Amino acid sequence: MRATAIAQPNIALIKYWGKRDLKRNLPAVGSISITLRDLYTEMQVELDERLPADKLTVNGAVDQAMLPRLSACLDLVVGSTRPCASIISRCNFPVAAGLASSASAFAAITVAAAHAAGKSLGVAALANLAGRSSGSAARSLYGGFVELENRDSEIAVRSICDSEQWPLTVVIAITETGPKAVGSTEAMEISRRTSPFYASWVERQDDDLESARDAIQRRDFEQLAAVAEHNCLKMHSVMWASRPPVVYWNSVTMRCLQAVRKLQGSGVGVFFTIDAGPQVKAICMPEHEQEVRAALSATEGVKDIMVTGLGNAARLVDVS
Ligand code: PMV
Repeated sequence: MRATAIAQPNIALIKYWGKRDLKRNLPAVGSISITLRDLYTEMQVELDERLPADKLTVNGAVDQAMLPRLSACLDLVVGSTRPCASIISRCNFPVAAGLASSASAFAAITVAAAHAAGKSLGVAALANLAGRSSGSAARSLYGGFVELENRDSEIAVRSICDSEQWPLTVVIAITETGPKAVGSTEAMEISRRTSPFYASWVERQDDDLESARDAIQRRDFEQLAAVAEHNCLKMHSVMWASRPPVVYWNSVTMRCLQAVRKLQGSGVGVFFTIDAGPQVKAICMPEHEQEVRAALSATEGVKDIMVTGLGNAARLVDVS
């Protein structure tokens, strides 16, 4: 009745932005991500008939904010007539700040809950369940480079390259530590309803997916860099042009982008991506880690730097 799982967050290089089915949480576009190695969320789920209500602690403190979404996820995985649950979460990076904490949280709780309930589900079924709670969480069920294909009635997720086969490094510049102002579900809906660029964003996504897939297969860093930056800036342009506009960046975000451009100008193999938050993720060849870390640390306003390689799939660590 008790199980613990660990999942790593993932960062999309070709982004998921927009839902085609809000109720089933189906994405409007496919996406390609990298699963990170050194950031993690651990979730312990204990189903207990004696509990009057679900309870959650995050890093030792009672947390009410995240509980409704996690409870809804347990209903999906275990069933709505399930016993109440005690959920204990540990996470080694800031949550809800655009660092994909929901991806690792929902991937981990889906795996833990399935095992706590004694359900033996395959990874595809787990990915579909995790994706119902947070679209990006489906990708953390796999390691390395991961593609989420957007099929008719469900999603299909697969690893397209192992982390060891192309071991890139990710340097994350934290530009703000508070939670983001607008959640991604709300922001995606604002984009879908009001952005004049939304239709072409959806229409052109397959071109970017194809280019990224090809770059990954051929380990072509420059091609991957070009398409990932293009896709990221296009996603943010969709948001900026919506009404009301959704702008996740701050002035430090912009300075980090300029720092990356400067590195590129001096021949360093690096590119940036930014999600629904102000943090900048710089992806580089491992041999350039020091230069990238130094340039971003020296950028005015950067509060912290995290460095990680690519990691593996969500996994069960304990069941009792
Ligand atoms: O999975 P969600 O609902 O947190 O949305 C993720 C959205 C982005 O991080 C901006 C893009 C992505 O593909 O991860």
